[in-house]
Amino acid sequence: MNKKTVKDIDLKNKKVLVRCDFNVPMDEEKNITDNARIVAALPTIKYLLENNCAIILCSHLGRPKGEVKPEFSLKPVAKELSKLLDKEIIMANDVIGEDAKSKAENLQPGEIMLLENVRFHREETDNNPEFSKELASMAEIYVNDAFGAAHRAHASTAGVAAYLPAVSGFLIEKELQFLGNALNNPERPFVAIMGGAKVSDKIGVIDSLLEKVDTLIIGGGMAYTFFKAQGYEVGNSICELDKLDLAKEAMKKAEEKGVKLMLPVDTKIGKEFKPDTESKTVAWTEIPEGWEGFDIGEESIKMFEEEIKKAKTVVWNGPLGLFEFDQFAIGTNSIAKVLAEIDATTIIGGGDSAAAVRKAGLEDKMTHISTGGGASLEFLEGKKLPGIECLLEK
Ligand code: 3PG
Repeated sequence: MNKKTVKDIDLKNKKVLVRCDFNVPMDEEKNITDNARIVAALPTIKYLLENNCAIILCSHLGRPKGEVKPEFSLKPVAKELSKLLDKEIIMANDVIGEDAKSKAENLQPGEIMLLENVRFHREETDNNPEFSKELASMAEIYVNDAFGAAHRAHASTAGVAAYLPAVSGFLIEKELQFLGNALNNPERPFVAIMGGAKVSDKIGVIDSLLEKVDTLIIGGGMAYTFFKAQGYEVGNSICELDKLDLAKEAMKKAEEKGVKLMLPVDTKIGKEFKPDTESKTVAWTEIPEGWEGFDIGEESIKMFEEEIKKAKTVVWNGPLGLFEFDQFAIGTNSIAKVLAEIDATTIIGGGDSAAAVRKAGLEDKMTHISTGGGASLEFLEGKKLPGIECLLEK
């Protein structure tokens, strides 16, 4: 990476503002149901503690749209962080208000405080310079370690870098290293697996990966748009009728580039959108009216597994079926299992595919699970991420 990291700057005894992505899932009682993003922030926080920094952490949580909403408070994150570090976390009751400012001013080296949800201010998502300046005024150095939010040009992810020396933390460094190596220097065969509901969400990534991969496997809801684009009926399956041309173009591009584009050959369909709905597996060309495709079928699983076993690098983004319902999670789980077994670099994009890998208990078997959903997609798409662009050059 050509951007400075915490290792390239003298931050001993300094007051440091660290942007993390603590946007973590919680249940109704505000228990954190997946703390992976908090755990991933620990190496940078520990390094700053070793350097006797006074640490001011900030993050967004959800989308409170500029309003102070208690259900979006970061207090549960402070609790979890305190447990993980076995250390007190001073929680500010606001972001740039009196409480945050006085606590920041009195913060001693070796102490950690967490600001409230930066999205309690609309100025955050507006990337308002005055708001950035206020955030910056509390610290001497800015560290961005929020890879999951690095695709957002917001005040705390990018704007603040105009007012403080700005470097990355270890998480961003690691993400760029793994995702960047897979993209730019992959050991071949290089296989990408794309799933998820919509072609429109992934077409940029598909287009960009077609320049790089040897094989592109497509599953999940978006496969039905590809089926329809070839003139077949898809019943009630999710299908973007206005994206048929994009699907056709992708198929044409794959052919031109010599990329093996693999679509499911069979699909598990259900009558209704509910966990225990009646289901059966049919050939992809034979989805009956009134039925909806929810997973790839056994033949597709076998075919994809064989291809994946030959790979030396695999990038996977998006589930291959409706994995929230057990009977339609078989495709996604099978792919997770084969990735866990092969001797290859396996990179899992964040979001649902990461959740599926964790649900299957296979996270330790993957080379890298990204903490970024949208951010990892935009990176794979070759887009510049504002949260990285704003950092100091090496
Ligand atoms: C994410 O969960 O992908 C990041 O935290 C970004 O959240 P956002 O999509 O609300 O900006």
